Amino acid sequence: MSAQTQAAIARISAPEITARKSGEPIVCLTAYTAPMAALMDPHCDLLLVGDSVGMVVHGLPNTVGVTLEMMILHGQAVMRTAKRALVVIDMPFGSYEGSVQAAYDNAVRIMKETGAQAVKVESGPTVPDTIAYMVRRGIPVMGHVGLRPQSVLVDGGFRAKGRTEDERERVIAEAKATADAGAFCLVVEGVAEALARDVTAAVSVPTIGIGASSGCDGQILVTDDMLGLFDWTPKFVRRYADLRGEISRAVESYAQDVRARRFPGKEETYFSKP
Ligand code: KIV
Repeated sequence: MSAQTQAAIARISAPEITARKSGEPIVCLTAYTAPMAALMDPHCDLLLVGDSVGMVVHGLPNTVGVTLEMMILHGQAVMRTAKRALVVIDMPFGSYEGSVQAAYDNAVRIMKETGAQAVKVESGPTVPDTIAYMVRRGIPVMGHVGLRPQSVLVDGGFRAKGRTEDERERVIAEAKATADAGAFCLVVEGVAEALARDVTAAVSVPTIGIGASSGCDGQILVTDDMLGLFDWTPKFVRRYADLRGEISRAVESYAQDVRARRFPGKEETYFSKP
């Protein structure tokens, strides 16, 4: 066995992600299940168990209904097969906004019950204090600015951010406060290219863009979007596969075979020994 195959592959750490500011682009995707995490792990630097799981896997209308238990269950599944990428778990709506102590307790629960090494929070105006509290106590935290999906009910929908001067300044201020609080990197979602570049220049930690142009230090997409599992995707998604078409063709063929008694055939059947 060569030295290369004997060596244990160490998982990428939060400080290693931070050190990639302005370096090689950071490759991130969302992951929710064990088999998908195993497929993505060799190619990704960071796998996010995003609360988008509520919409993508559980059919919820937004992420507000996602619970801590759902995040832990999917986090455990991803951690069973992801060996190399840094796994980050989203803290769901209601699990970190109430008090710094509640945020800390819930983050510790996520980390202990899943084995993941980092959590993500959406960085509204009050959240930097919470990030600082958690980071000082040993929890690596990823921030999230721009379009913050957990605020969909106060925002009245999923809308790109930073279209007015006021909003631009707010996004930059939230990004700076998030980085100053100790976040090891931050997602920048749904902003125009100029604002993404300004945010990236304004903070010392990497920015991970989603719908935020190539002006960020890394990119993330919802995996099911880029694999073409949905009939609609936002403008910023590039579809790298047509799994929706593949799956529906496969299921249609299966149904035809069962109805015509072509499946199972002899090769798929057990026979008793003489
Ligand atoms: O929940 C999620 O999938 C996310 C990404 C869109 C960044 O937060």
